Amino acid sequence: MIGRLNHVAIVVADIAAAVQVYRELLGGQVSAPVDLPEHGVTTVFVTLENTKIELLHPLGENSPIRRFLERNPGGGLHHVCYEVADIAAARDKLVGAGARVLGDGEPRRGAHGKQVLFLQPKDFCGTLIELEQA
Ligand code: CO
Repeated sequence: MIGRLNHVAIVVADIAAAVQVYRELLGGQVSAPVDLPEHGVTTVFVTLENTKIELLHPLGENSPIRRFLERNPGGGLHHVCYEVADIAAARDKLVGAGARVLGDGEPRRGAHGKQVLFLQPKDFCGTLIELEQA
């Protein structure tokens, strides 16, 4: 069911410092920061040959990653995103097998304009997984 690794998302405490690390120290191809108010995050993309790294910083009081940063003040690995060919079929198969999808279980428009779902980490080896319609 799962296909390519679309991205790995890392929550960062200081986006300018993270850009410095990925651009200057690691020599990555780093985008300008993009505010996504409807998702409550500021994002920076690091384009790699085979996937992307997404650096995330909270935007606004109700950011979904604010609590994560409170619990992990230095930042940390937040989620991995796998592509699936048919997100509704993937959801139905997982739910049918007893796995839990976060929220109301309906795919919603993600940060890249594609349909996404997040899966309950307790059912997936302790990792928050985002599924994205390829
Ligand atoms: Co993501």
